[in-house]
Amino acid sequence: MRDTTAITDLSILNNSTQIPTDDIKVRFLDLRVQDAAYRAEIHDAIEQVLLHGRFIMGPEHDEFENAVADFCGTPYAVGVGSGSDALYLSLRALELSSGDEVITTPLTWVATTNAIVLTGATPVFVDITDDYNINADIIEAHITPKTRAILLVHFTGQMCDMNSIMSIAQKHGLNVIEDSAQAFGATYTNKPAGSIGDMGCFSMNPMKVMNGFGEAGAITVKDELTRDRLQSLRYAGTINKENCVTPSINGRLDTIQAAILLVNLQRLSEKIKKRRKLASIYTSALTDIVGTPILHDDRNHVYYSYTINCDDRDALMAHMRADRIETKIQHPFLMPDHDAHKDRFNAEIPVARNLVKRITCIPCHENMNEEDAGYVIDSIKGFYGY
Ligand SMILES: Cc1ncc(COP(=O)(O)O)c(C=O)c1O
Repeated sequence: MRDTTAITDLSILNNSTQIPTDDIKVRFLDLRVQDAAYRAEIHDAIEQVLLHGRFIMGPEHDEFENAVADFCGTPYAVGVGSGSDALYLSLRALELSSGDEVITTPLTWVATTNAIVLTGATPVFVDITDDYNINADIIEAHITPKTRAILLVHFTGQMCDMNSIMSIAQKHGLNVIEDSAQAFGATYTNKPAGSIGDMGCFSMNPMKVMNGFGEAGAITVKDELTRDRLQSLRYAGTINKENCVTPSINGRLDTIQAAILLVNLQRLSEKIKKRRKLASIYTSALTDIVGTPILHDDRNHVYYSYTINCDDRDALMAHMRADRIETKIQHPFLMPDHDAHKDRFNAEIPVARNLVKRITCIPCHENMNEEDAGYVIDSIKGFYGY
């Protein structure tokens, strides 16, 4: 075993930018579209939009909304400009007001917490379990007369314990919003992410498994009234695009992104299959060496990230960087620790506090191959002296 003294240099948090591009052996993500046939499909899709010229709310936009609703098995979907818009607008659709509380997770991208705070409501952080998702067993202890909703996150691409969460919500009359930004295509007892709660919020930015080539997002919805509210809220809170009934943002999705998303949706199942294959290779090789993702038999993981955890995370990342492998901590700051949110909210979150010092994500994407995964495994094994 080698000495694995932890490195505390915070610059490692951005280690993916520190390997000169030409020197990278295994990229954390590879967003280049190198396949010529795929590029041609994208060009065609964009060309159609250029020809009809309806750059906002064009026909591909509506087609995309229908395709998302079909995929998720929900009556409706509403296209929006980003996952952040999806979260903010869905909370606005619940008509939260200041003083309301929303139960949520401390381990996520900050957009989840920001959305709650931007509505004027208060986030109440409930600790996570070893699978990185909110601990359903302790949610009830955090419910107060002010609690209005649960905003959960299917973190890393595996869904939360939805049966438990939905029965708690039903018992206490709470709304449930699924932050499915990382989990398009994931399932829980065969039900797709975004189809179980009142609304499902998706990010489709280029990093996501189901991605556009720019900012993009969608909300899945079950009833017409909420859909109509969201359609108004995503365009300045107007009715008939003119009369503002409640001030809101412009959070619409571009037609060009919708057209690209329709192409990418066709390729999604193949991408997920590749990610699952790589993940299973990692899990077989690494489970006795580092903490590998905890999987649940009733769920299908889409591996937005393959997140490992270990005692000497920073030193391992430095070692992998020396081996020219990009890794990334998603995410290094727990929600209550961001400067914007510090000291404002109480949070008893010991499991999250422990895990956030231990997690890192290793490359797991469709543009790498099994040989690359083998190289990553060898690097990790080398670090631990195997
Ligand atoms: C869990 C989670 N929620 C929300 C978002 C926000 O999505 P967007 O970047 O599209 O605004 C992200 C994006 O990374 C995310 O991972």
